[in-house]
Amino acid sequence: GEQVSVSLLGLGVVGSGVVKLIENHQEELAHRLGCSVQVKSILVRDIEKVRDVSIDQTLLTTDPNDILQDPEVDVVVEVMGGIKESFQHILDAFSAKKHVVTANKDLVALHGPELQQAADKNHCDFYYEASVAGGIPILRGITDGLSSDRIQQVMGIVNGTTNYILTKMNNEGVSYENALKEAQELGFAESDPTADVEGLDAARKMAILGRLAFSTDIELSEVEVAGIKNLDLEDLKYGERLGYTMKLIGFASCENGQVEVNVQPTLLSKDHPLADVKNEYNAVYVYGEAVGETMFYGPGAGSLPTATAVVSDLVTVIKNMKLGVSGHSAVKPRFKKELKTADKRLGQ
Ligand code: NAP
Ligand code: HSE
Repeated sequence: GEQVSVSLLGLGVVGSGVVKLIENHQEELAHRLGCSVQVKSILVRDIEKVRDVSIDQTLLTTDPNDILQDPEVDVVVEVMGGIKESFQHILDAFSAKKHVVTANKDLVALHGPELQQAADKNHCDFYYEASVAGGIPILRGITDGLSSDRIQQVMGIVNGTTNYILTKMNNEGVSYENALKEAQELGFAESDPTADVEGLDAARKMAILGRLAFSTDIELSEVEVAGIKNLDLEDLKYGERLGYTMKLIGFASCENGQVEVNVQPTLLSKDHPLADVKNEYNAVYVYGEAVGETMFYGPGAGSLPTATAVVSDLVTVIKNMKLGVSGHSAVKPRFKKELKTADKRLGQ
């Protein structure tokens, strides 16, 4: 029968989850799509590495051209992370008319609009649901579910690692260092966890959320950020006694075209709905003018939860291919702010 060929760039925490999900949910996917999904090839750094997913070794390659120049590959799933190489690989994929799904918030926050332009130019799809809040379908929630409304505010816990650390410190008195180590072992943290604990990962996600929620350009440099690195266990305990819980909160609002986005540790009253979001779980509160309050909750990191977002994007891409409507994934900015160049920021 009909078959769509998908190749992965990366077979780590998320990539292994994607391979498992495609394998384990084969029947459902075939039923929903009317075709089968085949993993054709996978880019890795080290072919010999022992992996926690059983895989046909012949699918593995260390040469990106085996994927990007393979005319049989329809969709490229970028789950290798980083910026420079993944950016180039995605541009090459679009040039070769391949659709792209990514989980890479670093890249989307920094180069999302540029990548979207390259996708549009080549009539390709570009989806990145897994880049924000892992398994929670929040980007779809905003761009599809709330597409009829005017979103005014988005507020959330969008980093699993820091929420895991804060939960362990608050509830079990675990030290910051040990809690971080656990989050790393569980696969929630980035390979270099600095971006997690300094709030930059959350800032990237808030920039992406803000762009989609308010249909505008938001640059990462416009997001004010503070992380959790310098929080003291004694201070947290003191807050707890007074009925408050410390959370790393991302906030984005748009009023009369004025956009504000920030990320900071915030003391929440324990009866606040976000105060109860524990461990690696994320939650995003969205306030729309017509709908009022909504809240999206679920696992914000981890192998299979994140893989569901990636594979759901894949399903959308394949449906679009079959309907002949690929290349319309862009959310058009409603108003365009003047882009600040590095020179202007430096006042030169
Ligand atoms: P990971 O476990 O470190 O896996 C990265 C994979 O990419 C590995 O298989 C690695 O190959 C391969 N790779 C990396 N650089 C490469 C290069 N230059 N050339 C070839 N292969 C390369 O990372 P991850 O946690 O799966 O994260 C992947 C992406 O998903 C990142 O953008 C991350 O931010 C995002 N994300 C992660 C989560 C999560 O919960 N972990 C959730 C949402 C989004 P080897 O295996 O040979 O080393
Ligand atoms: N390191 C990220 C987190 C992974 O902890 O939320 C999910 O994007």
